[in-house]
Amino acid sequence: MNHLAINGGPRAIAEPLPSFRDHSGRSLGDEEIAELTEVIRSGALSFLTGRKTAAFERGFAELLGVKEAVAVANGTAALHAAVIYLNPEPGDEIILSPVTDIGTAIPIMAQLAVPVFADVDPLTQNITAASIEACLTPRTRAIIVTHVFGAPADMDPIMALAERHGLFVIEDCAQAHLATYKGRVCGSIGHLGCFSFQQSKHMTTGDGGMVVANEDKRFGRELRLCGDKGWPRQKGGRDHLFLAPNYHMTELQAAVGLAQLKKLPAMVASRIDAADRLTARLADVNVAPATILPDCRGVYFYYAFRMDPRHLRAPIKDVMQALVAEGIDGFIGYPGPIPLYRYPVIRERLTFGSSGWPFTLPGVTRNWDSSDVLCPEAEKACAETICMWWSEGLTSGHADQIGEAIEKVVAAYAA
Ligand SMILES: Cc1ncc(COP(=O)(O)O)c(C=O)c1O
Repeated sequence: MNHLAINGGPRAIAEPLPSFRDHSGRSLGDEEIAELTEVIRSGALSFLTGRKTAAFERGFAELLGVKEAVAVANGTAALHAAVIYLNPEPGDEIILSPVTDIGTAIPIMAQLAVPVFADVDPLTQNITAASIEACLTPRTRAIIVTHVFGAPADMDPIMALAERHGLFVIEDCAQAHLATYKGRVCGSIGHLGCFSFQQSKHMTTGDGGMVVANEDKRFGRELRLCGDKGWPRQKGGRDHLFLAPNYHMTELQAAVGLAQLKKLPAMVASRIDAADRLTARLADVNVAPATILPDCRGVYFYYAFRMDPRHLRAPIKDVMQALVAEGIDGFIGYPGPIPLYRYPVIRERLTFGSSGWPFTLPGVTRNWDSSDVLCPEAEKACAETICMWWSEGLTSGHADQIGEAIEKVVAAYAA
């Protein structure tokens, strides 16, 4: 134990790792500056008068091979626009994962639909057709499938289930840019796909998001209007057809997005190369990296691995502290050591005044007790997983150092 950095020994990772937090791990440079300069010089900072947002949308749609892409302010806004497009009745149920960002649940509750948490597969930590099926009721309207950590969920059985029950499928691809499932790009498999360009994502515009669609007006609404005040601007004049927020992306974000989009394939490939190297390095270490399903391309938003507490002689938080001391940039569990439904906003229904809506709306029966273990596999996964921040700045050399740090700490804490 004395050789561990936490006990004063030398760090396995001597220099700080490249990070998504700043220039060290992000590919931001002359290309973004050139695009931004053009926008500033043009004086047109809004999509209403500029051209970058439309160009970014076209480029994104082309890269994904989808019919339509609508740029919005962030990933939560993308998912909110998607739920507004679906137009659920108050109290309708939308199934989601408890292993996801709160940005997946906010849009459901904001539209007064009830979030219903399906359990996850312990290997991928994604929801499955079987776990979704167990949650179906006559009030189920849609499924939001998060491809967590950038590892595709098993979409064929999910789409077949959705088809059988007439359900709408939104892919939450906030962590899954250019991930593929059996040759298809994530975001192009469900009815709608939602992306985030927040600072840590595979490409960034600081904050930013995109909704992509493969089908038009199934619900009688135009997707674009769902983040634009319900305003059919192309008709000219002013009109507001339904309740929808203003989620515009600015031309400044879109300018950065255009430059980042060109780099996206290389940035994703770089994440995968470093991750593959680490996975190979960990082959003989007693940890279980999150599974990428066969015929899929995982794109490593985080590099996540599980540790079996029975094989450790200290709590996982001690192991995490030792890893951090060695130079690892990570944390326990996603979205944290507890699943999403245990956070106060959901657990205590801190939503609209003291109403408790949508959970307390008339006819809603999904009013579980805050102490209930809704999803046992997710509870275990959150408690036993170590998530490491990943970025395109990591090289195979960094992956080797990370592997060495994990090997060192796991050996020291082995039961
Ligand atoms: C899986 C997932 N869904 C939704 C979001 C929300 O995106 P944003 O932070 O851009 O609102 C995120 C981002 O953190 C995410 O990782």
